Amino acid sequence: MSETIVAITGLRKVYGGKNPVTAVDGIDLRVPAGTIYGLLGPNGAGKTTTISIATTRAIPTAGSVRIAGVDVVAQPALARQSIGVVPQYNTLDRSCTVAENIYFHCRYFGMNKGEAEGRTARLLEQFRLSDRAKAYPQALSGGLAQRLQIARAIAHKPKVLFLDEPSAGLDPQSRIAMWDAVQALRGEGITVVLTTHYMEEADELCDRLAIIDHGKILIEDTPAALKASVGGDKIYDLRMRDADAREKLEERLRAVEGVTGVEAIPGGIRVLARAQDGLLARVVMTANECGLQDVTTTEPSLETVFIRMTGRELRE
Ligand SMILES: Nc1ncnc2c1ncn2[C@@H]1O[C@H](COP(=O)(O)OP(=O)(O)O)[C@@H](O)[C@H]1O
Ligand SMILES: [Mg+2]
Repeated sequence: MSETIVAITGLRKVYGGKNPVTAVDGIDLRVPAGTIYGLLGPNGAGKTTTISIATTRAIPTAGSVRIAGVDVVAQPALARQSIGVVPQYNTLDRSCTVAENIYFHCRYFGMNKGEAEGRTARLLEQFRLSDRAKAYPQALSGGLAQRLQIARAIAHKPKVLFLDEPSAGLDPQSRIAMWDAVQALRGEGITVVLTTHYMEEADELCDRLAIIDHGKILIEDTPAALKASVGGDKIYDLRMRDADAREKLEERLRAVEGVTGVEAIPGGIRVLARAQDGLLARVVMTANECGLQDVTTTEPSLETVFIRMTGRELRE
């Protein structure tokens, strides 16, 4: 495994006030350099708070975050040199043009006039924004504004780019364009840490991910390994007419060759199985004798993993 570029250790954040909220409740994670790393979890899980602390925008109650070895609380200015951020909401400067948004960012990070102009021109080209250089942010579509935010965030050549809910509010086409842009950044050697509550996005885009709920990491691995942890390549959900027949059927299904798991679900039985020719037919035949009403087939997804661990769906 490659070096760790983001190290989060024992991180906690309690928001004070009359009713204190524990937003982050003891998170430990290591992001390997050069990867796209996802924090996947429902609203309120603590994703934004974690990103805010890692990017020096919030102070932790306990624990630490190191970016390329630099402690973000002890040396925030130094850490910021290594960090790019695209927050959940559009933070483009509305009084500046597209080009100026990037240019002033470069100047803020210490580039001289010539360097900043050169870097701005290159980024406008790379992110296909050159023809909109003189436009104002309000005139951009959601997808273009997002692209500009990413271009600006990497203008000072950070080692790690944090993207908080990068596809929130994007249409499907812009979302796919954003995924391409993020993959290209990994190609340039930038590590990307993103948060999302879209399991397809986490699955498609991330090399590794942590599933977060109530401020804690439930499980952490590659998307493939997380899905494999469900214990089958296929899921057959059988809806049964007769609840009484269920127990007997569960036993018989377990004996079917290729079935790797059987569990009760509301209104029926879930069968986990290997991908195997003819297996669905054997399952249906067996279930038919016990009053099968309907069957739906799916494959394990990160949603399945989340439901297994929490009993709830990812999207409320
Ligand atoms: N500034 C704040 N003050 C008080 N509570 C907050 C604040 N920001 C977030 N929270 C609470 O902390 C929890 C985690 O929020 P957040 O980190 O935004 O989660 P996520 O990004 O996963 O949706 C939620 O219960 C939220 O209401
Ligand atoms: Mg959030």
